[in-house]
Amino acid sequence: MILVTGGAGFIGANFALDWLARSDEPVVNLDKLTYAGNLQTLGPLQGDRRHIFVRGDIGDRALVTQLLARHRPRAIVHFAAESHVDRSIHGPDAFIQTNIMGTFNLLECARDHWMSLTDEDKAKFRFLHVSTDEIYGTLEPEDPPFTETNPYAPNSPYAASKAGSDHLVRAWHHTYGLPVITTNCSNNYGPYQFPEKLIPLVIHNALAGTHLPIYGDGKQVRDWLYVGDHCAAIRRVLQSGKPGESYNVGGWNEKPNISVVKTICATLDKLRPRNDGHSYTDQIRFVADRPGHDRRYAINAGKIERELAWRPEESFETGIEKTINWYLNHGDWVENVTSGAYRDWVTRQYGTAE
Ligand code: NAD
Ligand code: DAU
Repeated sequence: MILVTGGAGFIGANFALDWLARSDEPVVNLDKLTYAGNLQTLGPLQGDRRHIFVRGDIGDRALVTQLLARHRPRAIVHFAAESHVDRSIHGPDAFIQTNIMGTFNLLECARDHWMSLTDEDKAKFRFLHVSTDEIYGTLEPEDPPFTETNPYAPNSPYAASKAGSDHLVRAWHHTYGLPVITTNCSNNYGPYQFPEKLIPLVIHNALAGTHLPIYGDGKQVRDWLYVGDHCAAIRRVLQSGKPGESYNVGGWNEKPNISVVKTICATLDKLRPRNDGHSYTDQIRFVADRPGHDRRYAINAGKIERELAWRPEESFETGIEKTINWYLNHGDWVENVTSGAYRDWVTRQYGTAE
């Protein structure tokens, strides 16, 4: 079996659902259920004996030790993190605590577990650390996309905390020999993403008839990857990746934010036209920029393609239409996650209650 951390969040839950749709290998899913974790997402796995959900903190040494001793996983796939850049600007503490201290704790527990394995199982064990392209910092318009040899230059508290965790993971391999692999992925989108992130926020606000906030001039560029493709890349790295290596994962899909938002508006105009016949683009508003906002991210995913034969299957056009259809058909999920604490966040970040 494998241990997944953060498997009630956006990517972790997609990963657990995809994994168990393809294999009978059980998943122990450790998640603290912060505001970003949602058991409703894991609803399809209710009653499924192959999925063992444990509510808990990756920083809890006793709990993680006990889980590893009881289930003896052959791999840990580590998604759990505080993941939203804007929240890291308002309150970095939780990011340091979970992303750095939590990863440190998990590495120590993993090392003890690994040491207890037979030589054969030791050689097969993997600690797969799911990280981000934001650790590389920002690119100028003419710069080549990030490769695995780009220097680390994180700019936000979130990115710095993920960079810290990457360094710990690397050191646990170099010093102790723990078989770790790190993936550094670009921006994901798809089903079950919390509507604080650009794409689900814009879909949600458009349908709610409220403003679509664009930070600064909207010309910041991100490299978008459909979440199912990210999950496939992680499965491939787990299967064939080389311990001690890192792999960049991306969609070859660079887009300025304003163009992403206009694509969402055009798709909604087609699939769910506004009652007044106007376009959703009327709801776009340019708002104050994010402090320290990185201008451009772009991933060169050549290494994972050459060495592990992984390439994304979804284009942005097919992926975004699937995603918008999913949100149109899952109003109940959105409704549940956008009550209570969500409204407090929106007021704090955008100054209005949506
Ligand atoms: P998310 O915020 O949707 O989910 C994070 C999950 O971790 C939640 O279920 C939350 O409850 C859980 N969690 C938080 N703190 C915890 C703790 N201390 N102990 C146990 N569980 C805890 O995040 P996501 O977008 O699914 O991202 C998952 C991982 O992928 C993160 O490590 C993130 O840095 C990385 N990543 C995300 C993206 C992206 O575009 N979303 C891109 C590249 C990499
Ligand atoms: O690059 C990978 C990273 O992508 C992940 O590591 C992070 O966990 C994930 O949150 C994401 O970070 P970003 O900051 O790029 O994603 P976000 O969806 O918050 O913003 C995407 C872009 O859209 C960014 O340039 C900021 C802008 N934006 C975002 C919001 C929420 C807006 O213009 N308006 C908004 O309201």
